Amino acid sequence: MIDTPILVSIVGAGPAGFALAVDLERHGKSVLVYSHPDRARHASHVSKNGGLRSSGLIDHSTKPPITFDMKDVVEFSRIIILTVPSTGQETVLQELKKFDLRQHTIIAVPGNSFSLVAQAEMEIGAILETNLSPYSCRMNQGELVVLGKKSLFFMASLQRLSPTASLKIQNIFPMEVKWCHNVIEVSLNNINGVFHPLMMLMNAGRIESTGGDFYLYSEGLTRSVANAILAVDAVRLKVGEAFGFRLKSVVETSNECYGHSFTDLVDLAQNSKPHRKLKAPADIVNRNISEDVPDLLVCWYGLAKKLGINASPIKAVIVMAEMATGENYMEKGRNMKRLHLEGLSRDELIARFGMTPKEAP
Ligand SMILES: NC(=O)c1ccc[n+]([C@@H]2O[C@H](COP(=O)([O-])OP(=O)(O)OC[C@H]3O[C@@H](n4cnc5c(N)ncnc54)[C@H](OP(=O)(O)O)[C@@H]3O)[C@@H](O)[C@H]2O)c1
Repeated sequence: MIDTPILVSIVGAGPAGFALAVDLERHGKSVLVYSHPDRARHASHVSKNGGLRSSGLIDHSTKPPITFDMKDVVEFSRIIILTVPSTGQETVLQELKKFDLRQHTIIAVPGNSFSLVAQAEMEIGAILETNLSPYSCRMNQGELVVLGKKSLFFMASLQRLSPTASLKIQNIFPMEVKWCHNVIEVSLNNINGVFHPLMMLMNAGRIESTGGDFYLYSEGLTRSVANAILAVDAVRLKVGEAFGFRLKSVVETSNECYGHSFTDLVDLAQNSKPHRKLKAPADIVNRNISEDVPDLLVCWYGLAKKLGINASPIKAVIVMAEMATGENYMEKGRNMKRLHLEGLSRDELIARFGMTPKEAP
């Protein structure tokens, strides 16, 4: 008997989407990659090169089919993985809304509360989201370099999944899926919100004066930056605790995803292979701010406020990012209103997303 290959549509033709495409193909899946027609720089390079060459942790060449038409995406597979930044998810949703997706499963990688936005827009068979992208990767002229690959990532479904459906989702990915109770727990496990904005803001002068020519972690995450990161992390952990989740600290979560055993952030920054050689972005207007502040920190701040938790460290980062960039992230980010949670009281919020005594560890 011949097994039919698993087909997967990948929406988002950037480094993370292409890294997933290469890795899934290596593991026997068939993929179709969608690039938004106005965002085709990486896809055009890959087409011009006649295929995709990946080096680093994934040494492989392939010729992934690429489309600019969402109709192809929907017809190719009932599994659609989004790998656009969360700031691009709503553009993609507007395209997806033209189709009947009641039999489809969408997995947003990472989600940053995508499912709470999407469910208000359209009916989708199942909406899932992850905390992070499983790959740390960069692209240049259509060539991919994979610098890090996680051994697990966190995922949750908005709708309840049967054990068979969960197994099918796990079978897509070449790394362990660790199931969370719900999408709020997944958002709180996206530790990029803890790392990125503070590393960017506390190194803003250096980023701008060197055009990012330094190592963001090994040179930029020093003791005082680590102390500030831990203050934000403490709020994230308190929010998790109010829902009954047993979140791990930022260092422990990173360790769990990469199979490391660091005990301190500075030690991680100096010695973690996937982190220590990552160059800083060339500019502070970068998704480390423009994605992680509005779609993670603003959400966590809104949750903390509803739960009666002092979130002044998170607010300080949001306000600093707003002052530095001139953007109003509180307003345009995933605040309680945009996530359709504004009308909920503290108790209703906990009743909806908190763990029941039976689920509690
Ligand atoms: N790459 C990594 O190492 C890494 C690590 C951890 C997490 N992630 C997360 O994984 C996601 C994807 O990462 P990536 O590096 O592949 O990102 P990316 O290159 O910035 O974006 C992926 C693709 O989405 C497109 N896009 C951006 N904004 C869009 C919009 N508003 N509408 C339609 N398309 C849009 C991009 O076009 P343009 O090229 O024109 O911007 C690109 O083709 C992000 O959420 C990122 O934070 C990535």
